Amino acid sequence: MKTKGIILAGGKGTRLYPMTNIFSKQLQPVYDKPMIYYPLSTLMLAGIREVLLISTPEDTPNYQKLLGDGSQFGIYIEYKIQDSPGGLPQAFIIGEQFIGDSQVCLILGDNLFYGKLDFLRDGIANNHGGTIFAYHVDNPTEYGVVEFDHNHKVLSIEEKPVVPKSKYAIPGLYIFNSKVAAYSRELKPSMRGEIEITDLHKHYLRDNELDVVTIGRGVAWLDTGTPQSLLEAGVFIQTIEKRQGTKIACLEEIALQQDFIDLDSYQKLIGSLPECDYKNYCKKIINEFNR
Ligand code: DAU
Repeated sequence: MKTKGIILAGGKGTRLYPMTNIFSKQLQPVYDKPMIYYPLSTLMLAGIREVLLISTPEDTPNYQKLLGDGSQFGIYIEYKIQDSPGGLPQAFIIGEQFIGDSQVCLILGDNLFYGKLDFLRDGIANNHGGTIFAYHVDNPTEYGVVEFDHNHKVLSIEEKPVVPKSKYAIPGLYIFNSKVAAYSRELKPSMRGEIEITDLHKHYLRDNELDVVTIGRGVAWLDTGTPQSLLEAGVFIQTIEKRQGTKIACLEEIALQQDFIDLDSYQKLIGSLPECDYKNYCKKIINEFNR
């Protein structure tokens, strides 16, 4: 079954005002790259090569300028506009044609994952209806929360509960079959006036078609919604990159590693970059690749 990817990178980013007054939250830097590089790298590392990027009318041209049609990375990127932020499942309605009869992996443009992504590759390989993930956090009230019984059977799913029934938050990374667009159309807006992704989860759960996979501690899932969490994410990336002498979410490197482009195209691509640390890193990769 073919899997396509959607990155939802709209919204107003009001919690990051005034930074988001001029440009989109998902274009803000996370240490040394625009935030959008991270979710795109997650999809690429999961082997996904067809991506739809959805953003606001004002910001979509900036993403197009930044990432083009994706061919430089051996992938295909299409763009669509969300006129106003009416809820996460709108991504599936806007992306209905793009999804076609494939399954789809949606990642929110402000969700960062670091670590072994086997959980995602396995989720994609084994998905039947819907697959979502559960991640232990200290502050579940800010997220969708899933409650399990002792056999890991799902007991409840709630959006930002005031009194959470568990510490397991649902990250902004979801896999659904092609029925998702039709199901999304049936959703009614919640009290906050948006259609809710957790209502979509409940739909799949009722149909006995939802898998909830727990992501272990070896994977970092980071939030970038507030100035503090954005800074913390940047420091996290900086710490790992400095220690390892590698880069996280270097799209050129991932394209080469994943065999999306050959060494020749990689060298041409690197040649077109301005002189900077990022380019030096990309050049260093060539030596290691040749070894
Ligand atoms: O980050 C994971 C959480 O994401 C989940 O645990 C929740 O179940 C899910 O509802 C969502 O919660 P958030 O409070 O983070 O959702 P928020 O409205 O902030 O939107 C998340 C991102 O998606 C944000 O960067 C803006 C963007 N967005 C949001 C909406 C509602 C859009 O691009 N379009 C939209 O219509």
